[in-house]
Amino acid sequence: MAPVFFLLPLLLGQILLCAAGDTINSSTPLSGAQKIVSKGNKFTLGFYTPPQGTNTSSNQGNYYIAIWYSNIPLQTTVWMANPDLPVADPTTAALTIGSDGNLVLLDQSKNRQVLWSTNISTSSNSTIAVLQDGGSLDLRDATNSSMVYWRSIDHPTNTWLPGGKLGLNKTTGVSQRLVPWTNTANPSPGLFSLELDPRGTTQYLIQWNDSITYWSSGPWNNNIFSLVPEMTSGYNYDFQFINNATESYFIYSMKDNSIISRFIIDVDGQIKQLTWVPASQSWILFWSQPRTQCEVYALCGAYGSCNLNALPFCNCIRGFSQKVQSDWDLQDYSSGCKRRVPLQCQTNSSSSQAQPDKFYTMANVRLPDNAQTAVAASSQDCQVACLNNCSCNAYTYNSSGCFAWHGDLINLQDQYSGNGGGTLFLRLAASELPGSKRSKAVIIGAVVGGVAAVLIVLSIVAYFLFQKYRRERTLRIPKTAGGTLIAFRYSDLQHVTNNFSERLGGGAFGSVFKGKLPDSTAIAVKRLDGVHQGEKQFRAEVSTIGTVQHVNLVRLLGFCSEGSRRLLVYEFMPKGSLDLQLFLGETTALSWATRYQIALGTARGLNYLHEKCRDCIIHCDVKPENILLDESFVPKVADFGLAKLLGRDFSRVLTTMRGTRGYLAPEWISGVAITAKADVFSYGMMLFELISGRRNSDHGEQHGSTFFPTFAASKLHEGDVRTLLDPKLNGDANADELTRACKVACWCIQDDESARPTTGQIVQILEGFLDVNMPPVPRSLRVLGESPDVINFFSDISSNQTSQTQNSTTSQTRSTTSGSSHLQSP
Ligand SMILES: *[C@@H]1O[C@H](CO)[C@@H](O)[C@H](O)[C@H]1NC(C)=O
Ligand SMILES: *[C@@H]1O[C@H](CO)[C@@H](O)[C@H](O)[C@H]1NC(C)=O
Ligand SMILES: *[C@@H]1O[C@H](CO)[C@@H](O)[C@H](O)[C@H]1NC(C)=O
Ligand SMILES: *[C@@H]1O[C@H](CO)[C@@H](O)[C@H](O)[C@H]1NC(C)=O
Ligand SMILES: *[C@@H]1O[C@H](CO)[C@@H](O)[C@H](O)[C@H]1NC(C)=O
Ligand SMILES: *[C@@H]1O[C@H](CO)[C@@H](O)[C@H](O)[C@H]1NC(C)=O
Ligand SMILES: *[C@@H]1O[C@H](CO)[C@@H](O)[C@H](O)[C@H]1NC(C)=O
Ligand SMILES: *[C@@H]1O[C@H](CO)[C@@H](O)[C@H](O)[C@H]1NC(C)=O
Ligand SMILES: *[C@@H]1O[C@H](CO)[C@@H](O)[C@H](O)[C@H]1NC(C)=O
Ligand SMILES: *[C@@H]1O[C@H](CO)[C@@H](O)[C@H](O)[C@H]1NC(C)=O
Ligand SMILES: *[C@@H]1O[C@H](CO)[C@@H](O)[C@H](O)[C@H]1NC(C)=O
Repeated sequence: MAPVFFLLPLLLGQILLCAAGDTINSSTPLSGAQKIVSKGNKFTLGFYTPPQGTNTSSNQGNYYIAIWYSNIPLQTTVWMANPDLPVADPTTAALTIGSDGNLVLLDQSKNRQVLWSTNISTSSNSTIAVLQDGGSLDLRDATNSSMVYWRSIDHPTNTWLPGGKLGLNKTTGVSQRLVPWTNTANPSPGLFSLELDPRGTTQYLIQWNDSITYWSSGPWNNNIFSLVPEMTSGYNYDFQFINNATESYFIYSMKDNSIISRFIIDVDGQIKQLTWVPASQSWILFWSQPRTQCEVYALCGAYGSCNLNALPFCNCIRGFSQKVQSDWDLQDYSSGCKRRVPLQCQTNSSSSQAQPDKFYTMANVRLPDNAQTAVAASSQDCQVACLNNCSCNAYTYNSSGCFAWHGDLINLQDQYSGNGGGTLFLRLAASELPGSKRSKAVIIGAVVGGVAAVLIVLSIVAYFLFQKYRRERTLRIPKTAGGTLIAFRYSDLQHVTNNFSERLGGGAFGSVFKGKLPDSTAIAVKRLDGVHQGEKQFRAEVSTIGTVQHVNLVRLLGFCSEGSRRLLVYEFMPKGSLDLQLFLGETTALSWATRYQIALGTARGLNYLHEKCRDCIIHCDVKPENILLDESFVPKVADFGLAKLLGRDFSRVLTTMRGTRGYLAPEWISGVAITAKADVFSYGMMLFELISGRRNSDHGEQHGSTFFPTFAASKLHEGDVRTLLDPKLNGDANADELTRACKVACWCIQDDESARPTTGQIVQILEGFLDVNMPPVPRSLRVLGESPDVINFFSDISSNQTSQTQNSTTSQTRSTTSGSSHLQSP
């Protein structure tokens, strides 16, 4: 601690001098509320305290040296010096240059301890720290600015900024790792991490507790990372992967420097690319991996279970409750859940009343990790084997035999049908389960029980009779005829949905439940989360949505607004959403004719929203999940008008949406005003999926792992559209319609929104009333030529080539029916 001893007199002597501008030098330490700001005022460095979670007392006095964006009202940090060693009082701490030339953080209240140091050995002790506009704090020579000893951007915490390297120094073996915060209020390192494979392959890995890899980018194949083909769909980024004898790393930059974008690993274990959208004053999620939250290993902790159809995704399984509620409130589920009632074998009670433990059946779950094989010839034997060992918490019996779990149950998922799924028998104390099995002790009570049962049955019958009577008296639900919306009472909706028991789906807006009105009309009730509008405004917005009626739009039947509760009641769509029909293959593949009708109907629905309503409604979230199908597969666009209804909350909703943001138009992140053409873009992306029957980003090794729209655009040019068709259709499609659909899709996803057709034009093209020229490959989708080490696959290609392509499109015949250059009348 010799250097510290040296420094103290210095510190005390410098009370009046303070850090200013963008630099910290040996005579200007940074302390208290002082800040330094980069030259162009892009980033600020100072002491930071996280927004406190729901527990206002727990984070009191936790200050961290951090860098954050200067111009974003929502204070967002990009780097932190001491995430695991906060200081309690910034006025007694100082960030300064030590006598050995290192930048150090000292805490005078804690015995003048060095909390953090850049920890490099320099020959010079005349160093300064300068905050750069790129977000990096650089330690360099005071006089020679090209002698940089240390850069914060090479030591990232949870954020990877444009211009930073994420990779491995092969000489030293040091790699950059991104580690998330523990929870939303605590920046100390969490359990997850992202880094380049330390074993030297070219893939990036996300790991849990440095041991289990739950996501991999796949190796670099000189063009893309093989498991992330959609990365070529970036419109605003330039990426490079460099791999040579001394180092390998990934680096990216923004094509337009005014766009603020960051790449993070979030507390929920997903990596995310977020972009600041000034119009909505919020961060919009542009891309994330793993694709779904439940793929994150052990996200919900021990005895927690992940469910994609629930918000939050994590819940405790039957018989268990949150171990540390305050952590759960801060979205940190890793502490998991604890047993509510101890197992019989765990208590010492040997009294005859104690019932043996029982098993609760959990069907269709992803089975937990670390199963142990057990010898058992039948499911019954398997159960007995489990019961006989007090450490056994669950078992399963499947075609490979009997498996038992002796430790904590981790990595469970509900409503799961993929690999490693099955039925889990969970051991619980008998009192946790209703309907105890008969035992000797109970037989005596059987007679009494029988009488009680009769009484219970009678009272249930009476209850239902009374309910029916009451319902008939009080369920004042008017008939759904006519165009007027019904204002439901909450209790009535509770009733018709059987207390929200049948969930049809869920999303960031809230959950949707099935219900049945007294006249047997099936309905879908959407319980909205996060609508903070007043009742009056909500009613006004809802009645606007209610007037929007079209055969290709899901009809709003009514709403409920009581206290803080906001619900919407829609007509029920028996065939569910398009993604289920298209990607899950629950039923036989949709025929080409049906798909074409779905494409056309959806375009008509959107066209009605865009052009035929009193006020143009931009949907903002066109994707297969939002196209519902009725009994005869007529498509109906759902969730329109919600962007406006939720107002600013809508962007929050976008940022919390799961999955690959393959449908977002590039202008969403470039901050220009959103027009109806943003819907056209999303529609085009969806049309490709309708053609291929798979998610655009999910074509695996097929098509050389390219992003499907890129592949499609080039095949279209080669005149080979058949290869694009869903293999499930066995080539059974009308050739003219297929070509039309492919061309439309490709026009819709042009970077330049003025090049995209309107929904009105799409309808005309698909109806065959308008012909369409060959679209150019969207500029941002082109994969570039390679050089040995460095491959730019998002960069602008030479301006020469670009202008040639543009010339060739504009030289086409001009349309007579519309102003667009790419359309012509037949
Ligand atoms: C440190 O910076 C301040 C203000 O920027 C300047 O006045 C002072 O001379 C500098 N000290 C050294 C040792 O460079
Ligand atoms: C808040 O955190 C403090 C300190 O960690 C703890 O003692 C307190 O019980 C917490 N309060 C609540 C309401 O969780
Ligand atoms: C730098 O080192 C020299 C000698 O090596 C010493 O005289 C000088 O005081 C040191 N400067 C600082 C700021 O510690
Ligand atoms: C500082 O670096 C040395 C070697 O350069 C290393 O042994 C030491 O652990 C590092 N200290 C800290 C706090 O990182
Ligand atoms: C600054 O440092 C660089 C790299 O060490 C060196 O090449 C250059 O000559 C130095 N410039 C001055 C003015 O000392
Ligand atoms: C690797 O680290 C060493 C030691 O810090 C450094 O000298 C070297 O320049 C680094 N190599 C690369 C390619 O960054
Ligand atoms: C993480 O791994 C370490 C040992 O590698 C172990 O001690 C610790 O309990 C693990 N953490 C969790 C949450 O399982
Ligand atoms: C590796 O690539 C980096 C960045 O392009 C370059 O500076 C370095 O010289 C290269 N090293 C070798 C051995 O090619
Ligand atoms: C059960 O009994 C043993 C010894 O008889 C004792 O050590 C243990 O703490 C008891 N456990 C419980 C849960 O009462
Ligand atoms: C219970 O199972 C565990 C794990 O297989 C084993 O280590 C232990 O010996 C078993 N206990 C008894 C009493 O069989
Ligand atoms: C049976 O369950 C075990 C334990 O999870 C699993 O490892 C195994 O793959 C399953 N076998 C089949 C055929 O599903």
